[in-house]
Amino acid sequence: MIKKIAAAITAVGGYVPPDKLTNFDLEKMVDTNDEWIRTRTGITERRILKGEGLATSDMVVPAVKDLLHKRGIEASEIDCMIVATVTPDMVFPATANIACDKLGAKNAWGFDLSAACSGFLYAVTTGASLIESGRYKKVVVVGADKMSAIVDYTDRNTCVLFGDGAGAVLLEPNFEGYGVLDSILRSDGSGAQYLHMKAGGSLRPASIETVTNKEHNIFQDGQPVFKFAVKGMADVSAELLERNNLTGDDIAWLVPHQANKRIIDATANRMGLNPEKVMLNIQRYGNTTAATIPLCLWEWKHQINKGDLIVLAAFGGGFTWGATLVKWEY
Ligand code: UT7
Repeated sequence: MIKKIAAAITAVGGYVPPDKLTNFDLEKMVDTNDEWIRTRTGITERRILKGEGLATSDMVVPAVKDLLHKRGIEASEIDCMIVATVTPDMVFPATANIACDKLGAKNAWGFDLSAACSGFLYAVTTGASLIESGRYKKVVVVGADKMSAIVDYTDRNTCVLFGDGAGAVLLEPNFEGYGVLDSILRSDGSGAQYLHMKAGGSLRPASIETVTNKEHNIFQDGQPVFKFAVKGMADVSAELLERNNLTGDDIAWLVPHQANKRIIDATANRMGLNPEKVMLNIQRYGNTTAATIPLCLWEWKHQINKGDLIVLAAFGGGFTWGATLVKWEY
């Protein structure tokens, strides 16, 4: 009998830049305060990629190097790299192509995937399909964003929320039932009005006017996004458990997108999970968009055990949202 191929996560890598931007630093920049930020979001500090000429690919490279080192393989062994990001180095070529060149991943093809905060889930599901097809043996999936490149540091509504970082996983074939078991992914483009970047695309190409109006920064209408996020992330996570005949007791870890601690608490609650089972690093990194989930896996990798069932869950710009069930392989 031919055994079904699953895509197992066989290594995790991560990178956060060393420079910190604390709530107290932000108090000096905009009309905000540490208490408001902590109680409304859960964030205390975030990392910022500083330095002339540094871009998202410069965080992808160390994250993937970390992963290759852990797995003991060379960059030339990578078949494909998918980089989930909304802050690519440039509109084209893809950050994946630039990162593969910097890494010496000569045999890899790759592309960027744009799904904002759900980017990593979309990319893991896509990467898993490439492995499950039997055609590829080593697919690297990265979530990376240099949010500081598109944040307006005079807008208190958004500048307190975001940070920079990159996280990566290696997907390889597994025949013992470990790996990505199921995914529910959703999108609703009517949500674009609440969370977007107005200019820089084909709709409003860059001009003096778009720059003057700060249309190359993130726009977010926080409250509606919050409402949709609480419902979307909790509903889809509960649905994923239900259709796999699981309850919160069966789940070892929830790995939620880190946008707001209150959204995370609502999702954990709905799944019937104790807070100890929820990975949370929003206090140190803020919202790193596509990087939040792999950065959690990177930080918690020594606490996850072989056979653990984990749920990755996200909600973000698009709107995009989803939940993915993984059986940990190592
Ligand atoms: O990752 C992608 C998806 N994004 C999300 O999931 C984010 C979802 N949204 C949120 O997390 C929350 O809506 C925010 C954290 C962005 C905002 O929290 P909120 O509890 O929804 O606050 P609000 O927008 O309703 O604002 C409440 C008050 C307002 O003042 P008034 O109008 O009541 O006088 C804001 O002007 O808080 C004010 N405010 C601030 N005050 C101090 C907004 N930002 C700040 C700030 N410091 N940084």
